[in-house]
This record gives sequence, C-alpha cells and structure tokens, in this order.
Amino acid sequence: MEQNEKVDTTRRMLIRGVLVGSAVAFLGSALGLGRYTVPPPPTLQPFPRVLLGKASQLQVGQPYQYKYPLANQPNIIVKIGKKAQFGVGPDHDIVSFSNICQHLGCIYVYENNATCPNGATFPGGHCPCHGSHYNFLENGKVMCGPAPRPVPRVILEYDPVTDNIWAIGMAPPTIFGFNTGSDNVAYDLIGGPLIPDGSQATLTPL
Ligand code: FES
Repeated sequence: MEQNEKVDTTRRMLIRGVLVGSAVAFLGSALGLGRYTVPPPPTLQPFPRVLLGKASQLQVGQPYQYKYPLANQPNIIVKIGKKAQFGVGPDHDIVSFSNICQHLGCIYVYENNATCPNGATFPGGHCPCHGSHYNFLENGKVMCGPAPRPVPRVILEYDPVTDNIWAIGMAPPTIFGFNTGSDNVAYDLIGGPLIPDGSQATLTPL
C-alpha cells in the first residue's frame, strides 16, 4: 500500500514536470525568446559608391588592384578586350572581381590566357596556391581546381557621358573570409573599415 502511494506520487510529479516544461517552452516560443538563441543575419546596408576611374584609362589586359567595399578587401579590375558577361564600358569588356580565392583565401593572379589542365583557355584568375581558375568572361565561374564557388563580382556602373566607372556593390557569394559560403552580401560590409561613399579608389597596376 505504502509502495503504491510512493509510485503514484512519483508519477504525478513526473507528469506535472512535463506539463510545466511544455508550458514554458510554448510561452517562450510565443514571446519570441527563441530568436535570442541564434544571432540573426545582418541586414543589408547600402554599399558605398566609389569612383574607380575612366574606362579610357584602362589598357586591354592590364589588371589593377583596389580595395572595396572594406579597406581590407582587394579586388581586380581589368579591361579584357572581349565582351564579357556583366562587362561595362563602351566595349562591355571591363569587369571586376574580388581578388581573394574562394578556396582558402590566397590572392590569385590575372592571366589573359589562363589555362586549365584540360586545355580550356580564357581570360581570368589563376590561384598559385592550389590551382583554382576563374573565368572573367563568365561571371567568375570556376573552370578547374578546388574552389567550391565563383569568385564574387564587384557590381560596376558606367556613365557614358563622363566615361566614369563606379563600384556600387558586391554580387553573391560573399567574399572569402566574410561568412564564407553565404550568399548574404551584407557580411561583406562587416569586419573592417568601410571605404567612404563618394570617394575615389586608388588603382594599383599588377
Ligand atoms: S587558395 Fe586558391 S586554390 Fe587554394
């Protein structure tokens, strides 16, 4: 008899515990407390608008490096000499990409005739670290090597009246090292000093 009472009491306490736990979980979710357990992704802020120079100043096949949108993010701009996807300028052949390899973050080089082991040749990036190749005619597409995703493109704006080229944003994926692998380019704006809106970039020949 005493034993049965003990079992009943334990069972009642167990059921009460489950009910209280469920109620707390329900209330927590109803009040939105769950959102504090996982940090929310950053909201997209406006990218700075930065003057890169005049299209007529770029020579075919000569790459330049500049920093954008943060002071610690190098990019390449080059006039390829062939019409490119998303190319700007009078000949639609000026493109710009993050200069950081999407594999493990090395700085890659631009080659007018980058060549994969299978013989594919194109103007684009060649990473000396492990051999990733990016095609600048096709939006930074990976042509060979271990890079898991295309190299991010700088969104350019061209004014045919002034011949000016502006950097106005980044296309996904994110720059390597800035929430690598995400398509939320808001992460490109976190982790260093922002290049001021309306400023002029310094182009360094490579
Ligand atoms: S870091 Fe560029 S291929 Fe590995």
